[in-house]
Amino acid sequence: SPSSLLVEKRILITAGPTREAIDPVRYISNHSSGKMGIALADKAAARGAQVTLVLGPTNLRPSHPSVRVIPVISALEMYEASEEAHPTCDVAVFTAAVADYRPAKPSVEKIKKKETNLSVSLVKNPDIARTLGEKKTSKQIHVGFALETDEGSGSAEHKLVSKNFDFIVLNSLIDPEAGFQKDTNQVTFFSTTEKSEKTPVLKKEELASIILDKVEMLLGAKPKV
Ligand code: PMT
Repeated sequence: SPSSLLVEKRILITAGPTREAIDPVRYISNHSSGKMGIALADKAAARGAQVTLVLGPTNLRPSHPSVRVIPVISALEMYEASEEAHPTCDVAVFTAAVADYRPAKPSVEKIKKKETNLSVSLVKNPDIARTLGEKKTSKQIHVGFALETDEGSGSAEHKLVSKNFDFIVLNSLIDPEAGFQKDTNQVTFFSTTEKSEKTPVLKKEELASIILDKVEMLLGAKPKV
């Protein structure tokens, strides 16, 4: 709507999985489809925001024509694209399921099958949300996600603080309608100022709107400059 506080605001959204090459034919990845981040990108663009969507490998694309999509494959590429867009953004939402580790030295040739077992040594990827969280200015708003396989509130509260998010959206794989690939999600919001609240099962589009309402509340509370 024209009255949205998001009009003309720049939003950086990371979404989808990343792929970490083992050799030219194999990789390490996860089950993210990009749906959650794409829903956010479309809803933010509909409110008049200028959206940059740094999107890991998926065939899905936003439907709003104004969303700028930067396709990336690996966590390092996602990091580079996000770091470039971050200084000028007003809001950053980190929905991507970034691989925490990558093969230390991807093989240039296809690894041949041997008689013995194979070990692949992994090194840590940069934490995009944490690194950009350290650079966050008082004018910027950061929203994180936490994906857990248990109830997860302890981890979510830890990530909220350690990654300097304004709020974090916890989804847990113990909820059957939540998480990867589904068209729905069920989440709990955590912030340092408000009591946590768990939503009912929502369409990812509906959840995207609720997240953007919360972002608008925060934008409205920032001193005007
Ligand atoms: O894509 P879909 O199929 O729609 O699924 C949606 C989703 C489950 C991927 C999404 O709702 C979600 O939970 N995304 C975050 C998944 C995740 O990797 O969470 P995490 O708890 O490992 O990471 C915490 C936060 O740090 C996240 O905001 C993540 O984007 C960010 N992070 C993590 C690691 C890293 N190296 N860089 C990061 O920026």
